[in-house]
Amino acid sequence: MSTRGYEGEAGRALAERYETVDPAVLHQALVPHLPPAPAAILDVGAGSGRDAAWLANLGHSVLAVEPSATMRAEGQRRHPLPGIAWVTDSLPGLESVFRLSTAFDVILLSAVWMHIPPCDRPRAFRKLVTLLKPGGTLTITLRLGPPAPDRDMHPVDVAEIEALSRAHGVAVLNVDQRWSWFFDQFYAAQRSGMGFLSRGKFHVWFAIIINFVRGHQAVG
Ligand SMILES: C[S@@+](CC[C@H](N)C(=O)[O-])C[C@H]1O[C@@H](n2cnc3c(N)ncnc32)[C@H](O)[C@@H]1O
Repeated sequence: MSTRGYEGEAGRALAERYETVDPAVLHQALVPHLPPAPAAILDVGAGSGRDAAWLANLGHSVLAVEPSATMRAEGQRRHPLPGIAWVTDSLPGLESVFRLSTAFDVILLSAVWMHIPPCDRPRAFRKLVTLLKPGGTLTITLRLGPPAPDRDMHPVDVAEIEALSRAHGVAVLNVDQRWSWFFDQFYAAQRSGMGFLSRGKFHVWFAIIINFVRGHQAVG
């Protein structure tokens, strides 16, 4: 586990950036799979707490897992909501989460998979699936594009997730490939004349959103 790039001033700057994103737009592929509130939701690598706050405000109970002390502090400061509990933990083990003996209706892993070294991914995936309630949904967004040199990142692709889901008997329900919020922001910025990319602050990258329902027959 590495939180390089997520601590101190760098982490606070990233949190500021993440908070500019509308989670309802970013996670629009998840919305049809959200159960009625209150559901038990696990947000792994919760960062600034943006998504946890979105889900808590929808009436869900969110356990926000975050290994970086700076990001946890940012999340708690920005979103002091009774529907969010924070825990210090990380993939692949999620030992603290497992100690709670809780299963979840929804697990969200948004832009975190690239931080998991490939050798740890089968274990990480198994842990995530084990924490799902029967019929629960696991949503993973994959960050594609150039790695950020100030953070530890490894290559990701959809085929790897599909193979892991087949191996664990869970079904890929939906692969939603689209330009990510950075791309959207780029165009929003262009329209408003801010020109984010011309200031060199953002990579263009896109996200793939995959939903799993345990118990369905795997596809592909
Ligand atoms: C790119 S940020 C994404 C934050 C948030 N999920 C979002 O979509 O805005 C990645 C987050 O994953 C956390 N992280 C890094 N390695 C992790 C690991 N092994 N397990 C869980 N979280 C991790 C980082 O500290 C960081 O907060």
